[in-house]
Amino acid sequence: GHHRLAVIPGDGIGPEVTDAALAVLDAAEQRFGFSTERTTVSLGADRYLESGELLPDEAVAELRSNDAILFGAIGSPKVTPGILEHGVILAMRAAMTQAVNLRPVRLYPGVPTPIAGLTPQRCDLVVVRENSEGAYVGRGSTVHRGTPAAVAVQESVNTWYAAHRAVDFSFRLAQQRRKKLTLCHKTNVLVEAGRLWLSVVEELSAQYPDVETDYVHVDAMCMHLPTTPERFDVVVTDNLFGDIVTDLGAVLAGGLGVAASGNLNLDGSGTSMFEPIHGSAPDIAGRGWANPAGAVLSLALALGTLGEGEAAAAVEAAAASVLSELPALAGEAMGATTEVVGQRIVDRLGEV
Ligand code: NAI
Ligand code: MG
Repeated sequence: GHHRLAVIPGDGIGPEVTDAALAVLDAAEQRFGFSTERTTVSLGADRYLESGELLPDEAVAELRSNDAILFGAIGSPKVTPGILEHGVILAMRAAMTQAVNLRPVRLYPGVPTPIAGLTPQRCDLVVVRENSEGAYVGRGSTVHRGTPAAVAVQESVNTWYAAHRAVDFSFRLAQQRRKKLTLCHKTNVLVEAGRLWLSVVEELSAQYPDVETDYVHVDAMCMHLPTTPERFDVVVTDNLFGDIVTDLGAVLAGGLGVAASGNLNLDGSGTSMFEPIHGSAPDIAGRGWANPAGAVLSLALALGTLGEGEAAAAVEAAAASVLSELPALAGEAMGATTEVVGQRIVDRLGEV
């Protein structure tokens, strides 16, 4: 088919890993006979510092008119924390109704993991993170700010609507996998939100009798994930818990440079966006030390949702194969630059 892609390279290593992913996309198009028309959308710290613009209306319109968005990473030490997160990333997720954040936690054969004895067979799960609300709604207030009497209140908003669409998506995903769905929350302490999430899972489980359901507290999750990841198939969780447990998941599977994600629009009202889970890594930007695998595996997720399943599987296999041969997954010890690793994935695509 033919697909319209918006590309947001962003800041720091964002453009470096995105270039590598686009080279892999060029090769995949040739090999599998599809085509893309790409539009670069410049967003992030550089644009903000130059013009004060975060997410202008015309950028939203451009993103909306595409079939998928590839996103590198944004962020800079020159911008106050929170401005780009709320003004660009969270604003984009909201404008495009990216209802869930899909984060596979998959250890590929031959990829080093810090967890002794962990095998690829035991580590193949997907975390579905609610992507629109919870503690990320930006609601709260502080009284007596900057004094010893300061009190900061940060609210978490949980609607039946958003929990329901995330849990329903997760049940359908579990049906295509090993048919097990785990809710991860902290229902014993966050009782209001917890009750809502539990009731949604219980209600929907009647519609998916073939899927087994399970529950873990988020603190227990941080123990189970590194020790018994085989216990999980699809894990559904709220925005904050999902943010945290997926970084832990990324560690199991080779680190931040390897982990991929998709921000999925589920109802056709916006465009899905695919991005490595790492940030702009200003500490290594410009050196060629960034691992492009997270960006390439995010491209594979994008191809899957665009209906290019064969190309998606080949890109994933090629990236996994090249990863298994790297002496280290990041930095100088990787033994090859971002561009060279990307080129190896391109070459391997012809062989898988
Ligand atoms: P980070 O993910 O950029 O970096 C954390 C550490 O991992 C750094 O030491 C970095 O060198 C390393 N690293 C990250 N990606 C790598 C890769 N592909 N290959 C090799 N090493 C890699 O997180 P950090 O340092 O907390 O944030 C840096 C900036 O990125 C901040 O401005 C932050 O707000 C932003 N950020 C943006 C995200 C996004 O655009 N979605 C997500 C996370 C952070
Ligand atoms: Mg995070």
